[in-house]
Amino acid sequence: MSDGPPASRQRGVAVLGSTGSIGTTALRVLERQASRFRVAALTSYSNGTLLGEQAAAFKPAFIGMVGNGSGDAQDGAPDGAQRGWHHGAECLVEAASRSDVDIVINAVVGAAGLDATLAALERGKRVALANKETLVMAGDLVAQACARGGGEIVPVDSEHSAILQCMAGRPGVEVRRVILTASGGPFREWSAERLANATAADALRHPTWQMGRKITVDSATLANKALEVIEAHFLFGLPYDAIEVVVHPQSIVHSFVEFVDGSVLAQLGVPSMELPVLYALTHPDRVADSGVPRFDPVAASPLTFEPVRTEQFPALGLGIAAGRRGGAAPAVFNAANEEAVAMFLAGRITFAQIASAIEHALEAHADAASGNRDELLAADRAAREFVRGAAAC
Ligand SMILES: NC(=O)c1ccc[n+]([C@@H]2O[C@H](COP(=O)([O-])OP(=O)(O)OC[C@H]3O[C@@H](n4cnc5c(N)ncnc54)[C@H](OP(=O)(O)O)[C@@H]3O)[C@@H](O)[C@H]2O)c1
Repeated sequence: MSDGPPASRQRGVAVLGSTGSIGTTALRVLERQASRFRVAALTSYSNGTLLGEQAAAFKPAFIGMVGNGSGDAQDGAPDGAQRGWHHGAECLVEAASRSDVDIVINAVVGAAGLDATLAALERGKRVALANKETLVMAGDLVAQACARGGGEIVPVDSEHSAILQCMAGRPGVEVRRVILTASGGPFREWSAERLANATAADALRHPTWQMGRKITVDSATLANKALEVIEAHFLFGLPYDAIEVVVHPQSIVHSFVEFVDGSVLAQLGVPSMELPVLYALTHPDRVADSGVPRFDPVAASPLTFEPVRTEQFPALGLGIAAGRRGGAAPAVFNAANEEAVAMFLAGRITFAQIASAIEHALEAHADAASGNRDELLAADRAAREFVRGAAAC
């Protein structure tokens, strides 16, 4: 365990998506670790009120709001609070590129986080990546940006943080298999008939994690686990055959790593994102005061594991197949899913139609050009338009 560095060695942190579930968790962690880290930049999409409160508490040099919120009283921000704030989509890249920023916590939801991840990696920064969609839609581009700029990605997702901690620097050739755990979401035990009538309110009732709306629906469809399988493929350079998923309703075991000698390591802890966020900041060091309750194995018992009901949750298989197919397919999977989830939350399509929208978008667009950022963004746009158009028919 390392002692806190002197204040002059504090590392500057940009929190992109600071008003969301991961963003607010990250600020709780950063507040506790103020001797090590200084909040240099904050961004939100449209929540001016909370961003204003965060700005007052952390006094970052850069404050950005992506969406239309103009900074006037209509979005709840106090008059004048946003003087000097930056606006527009480009403020994510501006925040991620600053010279006073060493670590970018990318806690934006969806494909909107891509350019900021690329910009930070190109400039040699650490990206503490919650925004898994970035890696799913453009894993090769992200790897190229790391190689060019010398940046690094440290995952915030609890499953990938667990794998990183279990691997503990061992070379990938020693890993035979990783097993990602999935809570199974709110519909783990629902029949296909009952699932057909699942509402957004049902999907948003996650049994073990408090998260943003999009990822909570992704957990209900298991699209989230497909995104995580693709994320693991790119993060750890593992072939898809070496990545498996098991349902673990208690969310205590965050993932397993099986080594070539048959030894299996797992990382455990109560379901809280504070530890993976902290570890993404301090990796490979461990520091005290994580904010995480002490582990009690008796209280956590029993720990159970079940196979995934793949037929009831087709988004998982569709996503893994898209990952295996490569090219534009993962970007199309991600974009179609984002669009379909937004439409489900708006009451415009049913729960079952999320997976069918993804399937049809993949049939139409998985072979789109994907050689560079612009082609991937074009595939992303085409998939979204396809899903919107199909729902309008
Ligand atoms: N929540 C978890 O426990 C968890 C765990 C693992 C991974 N993740 C991943 O972490 C990411 C964030 O998830 P979350 O649950 O924290 O989501 P969330 O609560 O919905 O927060 C999203 C954040 O991104 C901002 N945002 C939304 N749309 C944006 C856009 N187009 N451009 C820029 N900023 C935008 C939001 O600002 P406003 O508040 O102003 O709308 C908010 O600050 C996702 O990729 C998710 O998969 C989350």
